[in-house]
Amino acid sequence: MRTIAHISDLHFGRLDAPVAEGLLQDLHGREPSLLVASGDFTQRARRGQYAQAAAYLQKLPSPQIRIPGNHDIPMYDVVRRFFFPLHRYRQYISQDLWPSYQDEEMFVLGINTARSFTQKSGWITREQLAVVREKMDAQLRGLTRILVTHHPFIPPPRDPHGDVVRGAGEALRHLEECGVDILLAGHLHLAYHDDIRSHHQAARRSILSIQAGTATSNRRRGEPNAYNWITLGPDLVSVAVRAWNGSKFEESLVTRYRRIDHVWTRESQTAVKGELKRNS
Ligand SMILES: [Fe+2]
Ligand SMILES: [Fe+2]
Repeated sequence: MRTIAHISDLHFGRLDAPVAEGLLQDLHGREPSLLVASGDFTQRARRGQYAQAAAYLQKLPSPQIRIPGNHDIPMYDVVRRFFFPLHRYRQYISQDLWPSYQDEEMFVLGINTARSFTQKSGWITREQLAVVREKMDAQLRGLTRILVTHHPFIPPPRDPHGDVVRGAGEALRHLEECGVDILLAGHLHLAYHDDIRSHHQAARRSILSIQAGTATSNRRRGEPNAYNWITLGPDLVSVAVRAWNGSKFEESLVTRYRRIDHVWTRESQTAVKGELKRNS
């Protein structure tokens, strides 16, 4: 059994300070196997925002996997944007643009989908796919394989035209062959998850795509701040969304998926406050 604290879209520069403090308290004393932070650490990639984000990350559980988001590339400073897009990210957040974590049960790999020449969209290049294939090779057999991106592979249910990673169809063909089991992402500030085949009908492999909301920013899209507490077992994934209730983070929706005949199947979904309770 492994646990992942999956946070995203901290957006220092648009921080809700009491929520950020609440997240520290909620994670204090918890010992996830891994903390994943899937991008948008800052609002405008300014030095001060990066310094605050870096100090905050230091207080969160380790080990950590960090990857950049589109907001971590400068928007208005054109020289930086095109010539040194991730200079400050590397300086403050992580030197490593190919972060990975491996133990006896899982292999987690992060990749950068943020690009200088687009305002907010992202994509995976063919060169990146080749590296992913190299890193997720056969010696990982038996491990749960997880890929972390900032941009999601599937849109949220409430917005079928939401901003998903470009070239997702081609990328998925590679990821299927690599045996990827789970995708983690952020970007849209909404917590949702499903089999990629809910959106990519041509995909042959069932891969579970899990998105986290914005953990600490006031750029909420009609949903409370939240993060995911993910528990992994053999062919079993539980996603507990821990949402801000105005004074603290608490479990709000717990969904269990079981992989049956190679297909991630939603086994149960329970809203803790009783708004939704569906068990199969
Ligand atoms: Fe964001
Ligand atoms: Fe984003």
